Amino acid sequence: MTRLPNVTINMAMTLDGKVSRPDGRWYGLSSRNDKKRMDEIRSQAEVLILGKNSILNDDPVIHLRYVENGKDPRPVILLRSGTLPEDKKVFRFSKEPPLIFCLKKNYSLVKDNLDSVAEIILVQGEELNPREVLRLLSEMGYHEILLEGGPSLNDSFFRLDLISRIHLTVVPFLIGKNDLPSITGGKKEYPDFDRKNWNLVSSEVIEDEVFLIYEKNQVRLSQT
Ligand SMILES: NC(=O)c1ccc[n+]([C@@H]2O[C@H](COP(=O)([O-])OP(=O)(O)OC[C@H]3O[C@@H](n4cnc5c(N)ncnc54)[C@H](OP(=O)(O)O)[C@@H]3O)[C@@H](O)[C@H]2O)c1
Repeated sequence: MTRLPNVTINMAMTLDGKVSRPDGRWYGLSSRNDKKRMDEIRSQAEVLILGKNSILNDDPVIHLRYVENGKDPRPVILLRSGTLPEDKKVFRFSKEPPLIFCLKKNYSLVKDNLDSVAEIILVQGEELNPREVLRLLSEMGYHEILLEGGPSLNDSFFRLDLISRIHLTVVPFLIGKNDLPSITGGKKEYPDFDRKNWNLVSSEVIEDEVFLIYEKNQVRLSQT
């Protein structure tokens, strides 16, 4: 059986646990220190998985700006319906063409508009299952994966227990509006969430931000 790659997530959240503004985007809330940290984390990954809505809303820059001689991770995008505009920065400025995983139902559409800027991979079946994507990435020789959200995509990986490390930056703002997403979440809670705590392995304060690293713990044998 193929060993699945290590998957780390990296997210920034406000003091009230939100990861996007009321307009659905994340800009102006992360400091230069957080961007530097993000590049350091990116430089340790071979592959960077980005959410479709995050690309549509935030149009992130992928290449490393703060790590000298670092190698950009290869962008990976999961498209289970529709496609993306080819003028997004991920297609214009990535050193290696992004890898796109899609399904039979949107394969022709994706191929039609992104074939010249990305490598497109058809995943068998009706669902874009993250486990299958990781298996395919492993077969391609990728073993260190960074997932940068958004929360819907993070949730599909957390739900299958595929994440082993969380990098979390707490930024010094309160947004205050209900119903904005946190780092992950879907319609249902995770089974046994209160028996699967994460280990805090690092915490660092720089100016008004806190940089945390959590790693997956074993299931606790008894509850207190
Ligand atoms: N604060 C932070 O650190 C941070 C980081 C990243 C993003 N964000 C914020 O998060 C917002 C977007 O988050 P989001 O949750 O709306 O969207 P997202 O996670 O960026 O993208 C979700 C979309 O990806 C596609 N997808 C393909 N395969 C999937 C799968 N297996 N599971 C889930 N989705 C899959 C789906 O679109 P189709 O069904 O159409 O294919 C889905 O609607 C951004 O606007 C950004 O501001 C914040």
